Amino acid sequence: MAILALLASAIQRVSSLPRMRDVACAFVPHIVERSSYSYRCNDVCDTGSSILKRLSSNTCHLASSIDIEESNATSNNGKNKKKKTSLQSGREKRRKFIGLAKAVDRGQWENTYQPGGEDGCSFEAKSGLPNRDKPFCVLGIESSCDDTGAAIIRSDGRILGESLASQHSIHEEWGGVVPGLAKTAHEENIDRVINEALQKANMELSGVDAIGVTVGPGLEICLRVGCNRARELAIEYNKPFIGVHHLEAHILMARIPTEKHDNNSDGSVADEVRDVSSRAMEFPFLALLVSGGHCQILKCLGIGRYSIVGGTLDDSLGEAFDKTARLLGLPVGGGGGPAVEALAKDGDPKSVTLPIPLQKRKDCDFSYAGLKTAVRLAAEKICVERGVETVAELPHEDKANIAASFQNVAFRHVEIRLGRAMDQVQEQDGIKTLAVVGGVAANKELRRRLDALCTERSEPWDMLVPPPRLCTDQGAMSAWAAVERIMVGSSDLPEGHEVFARYPFSLSSTDGEG
Ligand code: KG4
Ligand code: ZN
Repeated sequence: MAILALLASAIQRVSSLPRMRDVACAFVPHIVERSSYSYRCNDVCDTGSSILKRLSSNTCHLASSIDIEESNATSNNGKNKKKKTSLQSGREKRRKFIGLAKAVDRGQWENTYQPGGEDGCSFEAKSGLPNRDKPFCVLGIESSCDDTGAAIIRSDGRILGESLASQHSIHEEWGGVVPGLAKTAHEENIDRVINEALQKANMELSGVDAIGVTVGPGLEICLRVGCNRARELAIEYNKPFIGVHHLEAHILMARIPTEKHDNNSDGSVADEVRDVSSRAMEFPFLALLVSGGHCQILKCLGIGRYSIVGGTLDDSLGEAFDKTARLLGLPVGGGGGPAVEALAKDGDPKSVTLPIPLQKRKDCDFSYAGLKTAVRLAAEKICVERGVETVAELPHEDKANIAASFQNVAFRHVEIRLGRAMDQVQEQDGIKTLAVVGGVAANKELRRRLDALCTERSEPWDMLVPPPRLCTDQGAMSAWAAVERIMVGSSDLPEGHEVFARYPFSLSSTDGEG
């Protein structure tokens, strides 16, 4: 009842708010908060269609899915844990997965995801944009999951300074990201990373021209830390506040002009400014986005315009890596992918027979849950053969074989789905460029295999993968996505909608009214 009453009062409050296009911000001219924004935790229980609906209706997917880790973190009482587990209903069991937020967006050609809103009215045009006729600098902040990142980027794509506070060691002992601990670590580190990025760029905050911050998707309590700090700084220094969509930011990293040609020989940043309109990759292109939270193939049409060609029915590729790492007893703090990749180098990818997922479905969707189970069952069988109790106790060679076989089949699944998507977009749209982005794109074997997929086609494709450190989460992605948003300004977007400031948390209604 209490929940219903709360819900009713929230609906009443939201419906009494003025439409955002009529709202002017009183306290700082550059910020728009979408007070009616709503989010849900434990979106892991959502169906693909409801998430699609929310994507297309311009709401973010914010999820927290680590309940069991949190209860472990606060209770060491083994008896209680056992009792609790046995009482769990099916639904609760589903919520028990350990790892990052995930989306189960499925391939829907007609569904174009528009962070700007279909009508462009969900957000307000802002004054005070940096002057786009000359180079400008943006401070980017990222706190969507377990790393606190900040960076200063110039509008020609040069990263002037960056800093990243990793939380790997904090989450290691829990086997996955614990949101409460992540939030505290973000709070402790955010000022330090911002200052460090500024110092490296030899700048002060008054010198930056805008602040970009990840507003979702991600862990809500973590996102809040970055968003609140960005908001405070935007108010204090009177800077434009630019809300950044995390998935768009991953994708746009493929467009950042490469630095290798024009940095000084000692690696320092060259003084002269490049052409601010140059991009490593022009729209339209196809993107494979493979991270801990997402696994999608998207047709990228322009800034804020992405059509989902395929998505995962259950787990993401990064999640499959993380779960395999956990099974093998490898380090998982900050993601188990690198450890699985390293171990797989010592193994034979054909040694353990595993099924390639979704063989009968001739579409571009993914599924990794079945593979995860198959890996566990295969590993348990080897344990019996070797006479050991746990997978972690297996000899190195066996573990390496399991890692290599998992990676091989996981990537074969990508090759099949992606190859199909490439055929489709090439035929229908003449697209022949591929961007591979997100944390798993840091995997060298994946790069090698997708490079071969592109070059061995009858009409070869160009492929672009950002440098590994720019594939995983960091501050430069928020900064660069904000630059891209500022650069398109009103030209690509509905007239008068220059910057989309998406603020995912409901603020007091006076914040939005002027
Ligand atoms: O993009 P990201 O940093 O965070 C999300 O937005 O989810 O991606 C993190 C994911 C983790 O699942 C991690 O295990 C995976 O990327 N990952 C890798 C590698 N490096 C990171 N997976 C496979 N091989 C890697 N080298
Ligand atoms: Zn990410």
